[in-house]
Amino acid sequence: MQFITLFSTSLALFGTTGWAGYVLQDDYFANNAFFDQFTFWDAEDPTQGFVAYQSYNASVDAKLISSSTGNIYMGVDSASNTPNGRPSVRITSKKTYSQGLVVVDIEHMPGGICGTWPAFWLVGPNWPNGGEIDVLEGVNDQTSNDVTLHTGPGCSVSNTGSFSGHMTSTGCASDNNNNTGCQIASGDTASYGAGFNEGKGGVYAMEWTSTGIAVYFFPRSSIPSDVLGDSPNPSGWGTPMAHFTGDCDFTSSFTDQQIVFDTTFCGAWAGNVWSSSSCASKAPTCNSYVENNPSAFADAYWSVNALKVYTNNGQAAESVAPSSAVTATSTSVVYVTQPTSSAAPTTFAVSTTAAAAPTSSDGGYAPVLRRAVLGGSRMVLMGSWDLGARGMRVSVR
Ligand SMILES: *[C@@H]1O[C@H](CO)[C@@H](O)[C@H](O)[C@H]1NC(C)=O
Ligand SMILES: *[C@@H]1O[C@H](CO)[C@@H](O)[C@H](O)[C@H]1NC(C)=O
Repeated sequence: MQFITLFSTSLALFGTTGWAGYVLQDDYFANNAFFDQFTFWDAEDPTQGFVAYQSYNASVDAKLISSSTGNIYMGVDSASNTPNGRPSVRITSKKTYSQGLVVVDIEHMPGGICGTWPAFWLVGPNWPNGGEIDVLEGVNDQTSNDVTLHTGPGCSVSNTGSFSGHMTSTGCASDNNNNTGCQIASGDTASYGAGFNEGKGGVYAMEWTSTGIAVYFFPRSSIPSDVLGDSPNPSGWGTPMAHFTGDCDFTSSFTDQQIVFDTTFCGAWAGNVWSSSSCASKAPTCNSYVENNPSAFADAYWSVNALKVYTNNGQAAESVAPSSAVTATSTSVVYVTQPTSSAAPTTFAVSTTAAAAPTSSDGGYAPVLRRAVLGGSRMVLMGSWDLGARGMRVSVR
């Protein structure tokens, strides 16, 4: 086999030649038209909530929703006793997605209030066969987020890999008797409800590939600069809150997902656990609490600053996008930094600046073999650490 060094040829290596990386597909805040891209569910709540979901027009009239450049608001009625369920909104994106990266900046969420069941989630057709990805969800006075997947038969995940949450159940398949799903509980009080709102929320990012589903959360004080940029790169984001992998076909178990925001009350989750929650002291039933305590729900609103969906523009899911385009010329040297976290042993940040010395022990110095498909021709990147330059030289064959 013949080796040609990268440095002897002028080659747009990354960014412009089909290297797998995320590119913006939909910016829901473009043109101040957020709500135009959603349908408003105004029928009975499929989760049996004590809620009266409103149409778009009714939501505008009742001031349950509003929008301005760079922000949308979705609240609930907090003025009236509501014997027929509390007015609220549930919106579903008109577009559907099959894999990609969904990033949302939420400044305030409805969580942490007895009787509430808010969620930011995605759902496919013919539930549960099209799958459901619950990115941000909880009930009552819950203090941290639960990330949950629901699927048709034949999907289970393993409690391995690197994520900061705690896996509470591994079977994703729902059936008539058991709709628990597979779940990773965050445990981080900044991730949900009162703690989330105290810190002015943050950014959730959900990455769905053929090999798994990961959810990242970044409190407002530590949002990566690229997360809502033109080419976000999860490989630089550290350990996710949740990462589902295992005995599951993540392509066929999740299809044509639509993005949903909703705030419901009581019902199949918040209502079912009411009597065993600390909320039980407030009222005999969840419904009676929600009906008779309007002012308790003044804070049950979503305030959202951004929602973007990115698609992977390359073919090779195993190749990882650089955070910016790097063009190799006859004189440039490409440095590839081995991540120090064992969480992401196969991902690399690429830049033309010399890297800091690797800090992981053996992993930082191991030779690396990467593969990418560029313009239909197969290319193998090989390299080993060049300790003098504190980076890695890359050659191409
Ligand atoms: C909603 O309001 C607009 C503007 O007032 C009106 O043209 C439209 O017919 C209304 N839609 C429904 C479904 O009532
Ligand atoms: C329901 O399913 C979950 C996930 O597979 C499992 O952990 C739990 O034990 C099941 N509960 C019952 C009552 O079968």
